[in-house]
Amino acid sequence: MRDLRRVRELLLGAGYTVAGVREALGPVAGGALARDEIVPALRATAGGSPVEVLTRLFWLQVPVPEGAVAVDDLTAAGLAEASGGQVRALLRVEPLEAVDGDGHAGYAVSDLKVRPGDGRVPADDHVVGTGGASANLAQLVVHRPVDNVLDLGTGCGVQAVHVAGRSPGARITATDVNPRSLELAAMSFALSGVDGAELLRGSLLEPVEGRRFDLIVSNPPFVVAPPGDRRFAYRESGMAGDDFCRRLVRSASRYLNDGGYCQLLANWLHVEGVPWEERVGAWMDGCDAWIVQRDVQDPAEYAELWLRDSCEAGTPEYRARYEAWLDHFERENVTGIGFGWITLRRSERPAVRIEELRHAVEQPVGAYAHEVLDGLAKADEFSTACGRLLAAAPGLVQEQIGPPGAEDPERIVLRQARRLRRAAGVGTVEAALAGVCDGTLPLDRLLDAIAQLTGMDAGEVRAHADAVLPELIADGFFV
Ligand SMILES: C[S@@+](CC[C@H](N)C(=O)[O-])C[C@H]1O[C@@H](n2cnc3c(N)ncnc32)[C@H](O)[C@@H]1O
Repeated sequence: MRDLRRVRELLLGAGYTVAGVREALGPVAGGALARDEIVPALRATAGGSPVEVLTRLFWLQVPVPEGAVAVDDLTAAGLAEASGGQVRALLRVEPLEAVDGDGHAGYAVSDLKVRPGDGRVPADDHVVGTGGASANLAQLVVHRPVDNVLDLGTGCGVQAVHVAGRSPGARITATDVNPRSLELAAMSFALSGVDGAELLRGSLLEPVEGRRFDLIVSNPPFVVAPPGDRRFAYRESGMAGDDFCRRLVRSASRYLNDGGYCQLLANWLHVEGVPWEERVGAWMDGCDAWIVQRDVQDPAEYAELWLRDSCEAGTPEYRARYEAWLDHFERENVTGIGFGWITLRRSERPAVRIEELRHAVEQPVGAYAHEVLDGLAKADEFSTACGRLLAAAPGLVQEQIGPPGAEDPERIVLRQARRLRRAAGVGTVEAALAGVCDGTLPLDRLLDAIAQLTGMDAGEVRAHADAVLPELIADGFFV
């Protein structure tokens, strides 16, 4: 680990951070890389500066001249090898940026990326680097400080590094079924300055039986692949269907402290004749829950996605493999596969919201995810007689829709300019309330004033508010 500490200084000293790499690459090469095209990036990093050399070596995975890097430090740490005057990376080292975009968060060490056209597929114990899914989860994770955290299925350790950066001093436990993951996660922690993390081998929650955490994060092996097929540990658990995610969700409350959070990405099956919300809703137990479906793919799209992910498209077995996935989904009456976010919070009186949100929302969601759950819990308890103060959420916009010149609008829409960017059709009472309530005046007085102004009956206005406000609170229009 001493060697890794020296490498950490080397990387930081060279400016090998996301900001440094972004600047070295520029937008065109950066965009091409996102499409797995490295030619523009090779041109952009031809200058030989320290950050360019490290970007070539650890990001683009191309050899660099021996004289261009501190080769002894890199080889001693097991990150690279030298031969014939060239240095080659043995592992991938990716810099991580804090999820709010404010500075460097650390490094993630993973196996070298297998690219389409390399003529091989990842090894069974391949440790995957950071990607869209891990970034998605990192942005979802709540920002409240925690004393202890479990990163379940830590892989390259990226989630633990992010949480450690936000909660200095937190006890970090990282688990994985793949021993190689634990080795590489330990290297990531050393390069990121995360000290004292506990690394445990085992499946699901087995390694932490009987323990409780303030936060459990997991980007689990959620991919639903045909049984008995080739299995990649980095994405498939070997459990039937979406069982891994179901079991984690179902057990979470037993492993959480009071008010503790469990957040994961998940795939769930859409099975013929069963609404997906009902199926996933049946997984919940002992926690407030916010489940968001971000995407749904049909069986063919799903099989193609994951066969491409493992670089199997274009191989001689491609057709047979593709058919095996389709046969499996057909046998199980699967009509689609949902992808989404699950946020759980241990609670005595669980409030649950299961919804689809396909549009872009304000990131990072983790900065306000706890308030989404607060809204659900508070909506459950709300009535105009509860004596609580109510405020319109910041950043609301009102749209009036109707024919030009008409005195009254046909529809009034409240729209959130921030956070989840929801829209809701509302009546005059809620629209008026959104205009006046700022959390300083009691709600009953505001409702009476609205009744007077509109000429409505005060009792009717309150009854209407009792009927519609809980949903608007749950949706974050009022707090
Ligand atoms: C998609 S990767 C996530 C890696 C990393 N946490 C991230 O966010 O990018 C899933 C991880 O789960 C691990 N895994 C697979 N089966 C598991 C199981 N039964 N129990 C625990 N971890 C498992 C894999 O080895 C892999 O490291």
